[in-house]
Amino acid sequence: MKNILITGGAGFIGSNFVRYMLKNEPAIQVINLDALTYAGSPTNLEALPGEKRHTFIQGDICDRALVDDLLRQREIDTIVHFAAESHVDRSILGPEQFIQTNIVGTFTLLEAAKFYWLHERKWNDGQARFHHISTDEVYGSLAPDEPPFAETTPYQPNSPYAASKASSDHLVRAYHHTYGLPTTLTNCSNNYGPYQFPEKLVPLIILNALEGKPLPVYGDGQQIRDWLYVEDHCEAIALVLRQGRIGEEYNIGGDNQPTNLEIIHTLCSILDARLPASPHAPHTQLIEYVTDRPGHDRRYAINMAKIQTELGWQPRQALASGLEKTVDWYLNNADWVAKIRSQQQYNQWMQQNYVDRS
Ligand code: NAD
Ligand code: DAU
Repeated sequence: MKNILITGGAGFIGSNFVRYMLKNEPAIQVINLDALTYAGSPTNLEALPGEKRHTFIQGDICDRALVDDLLRQREIDTIVHFAAESHVDRSILGPEQFIQTNIVGTFTLLEAAKFYWLHERKWNDGQARFHHISTDEVYGSLAPDEPPFAETTPYQPNSPYAASKASSDHLVRAYHHTYGLPTTLTNCSNNYGPYQFPEKLVPLIILNALEGKPLPVYGDGQQIRDWLYVEDHCEAIALVLRQGRIGEEYNIGGDNQPTNLEIIHTLCSILDARLPASPHAPHTQLIEYVTDRPGHDRRYAINMAKIQTELGWQPRQALASGLEKTVDWYLNNADWVAKIRSQQQYNQWMQQNYVDRS
């Protein structure tokens, strides 16, 4: 692994991964390809460790000519593919872009990698790798007594977002099976931590609570997610890159099962403790039940036995302390928050998803 192309490296997990790799892999060059949609920002890439080994390229993964040029000119041996439309709610209100980026974009990258690595025979076996970042949402929703998602669980995606990710996963699998493209794939649960765009649950709750705005709970708030601190996710991906078996999938999770309401209560009590003089404390008074997300998945849970036994990975960060670190990060990075939320599109989204919600 010398020259690594990271797509979507200006987004939440991608920028954390860029940071992680520059810090922990001193010999690699990182080429970061990101279209800078509403979800990506150069602000996420400020003060990187080993900055000189990072090159940022603004561009679209659907642009085949650009991707071809990058692979050749930068002699890319490893692709880690994060770039996606990632927000379930946005996929419900406007699915088209999800089809384009998540399916067509992944197809474009796979074709370019196939051409460069397999047809031009630039690399020998074992020297190249296409790692695809996917989600647990492809497995659908679990009943309370159903066992957690394993790598063998059939796909049953419920939202346009999940369906588009499932499609991209199938393409990755097919490119390995049919053409022998050296791929690995990880399906991960809900991430939280620094640099998460504030339309997702954890940062949204923290920032709304700080400002005394309503804390919107979809439906009854009893939906269950498995929460993973983003740095743990980065570590797992790096391990799969180094040691994961070609053609394999690995599930990654945080090994916890809180309801959304429990997450919101925990965040409120952390804020109560950090800001005892706040006029909004106790922050739970801001909780407001709103119309549920259409097709809302009830429960996700991850069986991590494969990555634990094969690669020895497990999450380091406990949920309670991870949420504390995350609250502190948002409290200490008001400039980042202001820059991210100043975008026109953010306010439009808040209006569309919450004020206009019926
Ligand atoms: P994000 O929305 O924060 O970031 C996505 C990034 O991709 C942004 O920087 C955006 O500008 C870029 N992008 C979008 N369309 C692009 C295009 N056409 N060309 C180039 N760049 C483009 O997403 P995230 O939460 O960091 O998720 C990253 C990946 O991880 C996604 O593939 C997502 O499906 C997956 N994932 C996310 C989670 C989670 O909890 N956030 C969990 C499991 C898997
Ligand atoms: O499971 C992995 C997935 O986690 C990733 O694939 C997605 O990219 C990522 O966005 C995330 O999807 P979710 O839909 O689970 O995340 P979100 O933060 O949008 O919502 C978490 C839960 O909180 C979900 O059950 C919906 C609920 N929710 C969310 C928002 C934004 C609320 O109750 N109120 C809200 O305002």
